[in-house]
Amino acid sequence: MKKIYIVANWKSNLTSAEANSWLQRFKNYDLRIMNKEIIICPPYTLFAEVESRIKNQELRIKLGAQDVSPFDEGAYTGEVSAKQIKEFADFAIIGHSERRQNFKEDDKTIDRKIDQAFRNSLNVILCISDIKQIQNSEFRIQNSNSKLIIAYEPLFAIGSGNPDTPENANNAAEKIKEIINAPVLYGGSVTPENVNGFTTMDNIDGVLVGGASLDAQEFYKIIQKA
Ligand code: PGA
Repeated sequence: MKKIYIVANWKSNLTSAEANSWLQRFKNYDLRIMNKEIIICPPYTLFAEVESRIKNQELRIKLGAQDVSPFDEGAYTGEVSAKQIKEFADFAIIGHSERRQNFKEDDKTIDRKIDQAFRNSLNVILCISDIKQIQNSEFRIQNSNSKLIIAYEPLFAIGSGNPDTPENANNAAEKIKEIINAPVLYGGSVTPENVNGFTTMDNIDGVLVGGASLDAQEFYKIIQKA
């Protein structure tokens, strides 16, 4: 049975009170779903609180960051280093299309972020919307103990309510696996209704969920149906 990753990307959403009530709902949910790895990626402001709640409630959920600084610790105002992230999280999303577009992140910067993450033992969820984004990539994973996961997220599908078809996503995942031996997730308008169409495809190993992860009940339905 393949392992399925279900990743929540909260983006710049949720206050501390909102995150608490999200986690409170999870108290009643059964997460002992054997082959599923659940990862939530809150904003940095919520890391400490979410981490301690996960521990207190003994939830089978791992934490991820939504980004990583391309620099070591030091004089880089506003950045959060991989070393700091590693205190709380095991995973980091890198190269999300919203960062590529809104913050002009190029492949070189993304390679540096991946390098920082790997050097600090963070597992990387590398987002791509086009296979060229890994064909040109220079990062090296051979000497790393970290896992690399690719999330295929076509631009038209993100936040649009218009997901790709499972067949297209599966074809893209197959091509990605010809280049990199890594699990491949699909992301873009995933809902409880469509998740199973993706996760039952041969080459798709899970989903990255934005909008539908903000509601605990919706996200739990996705976990159940994936
Ligand atoms: P969405 O976002 O599920 O809201 O489409 C996915 C993502 O941006 O990772």
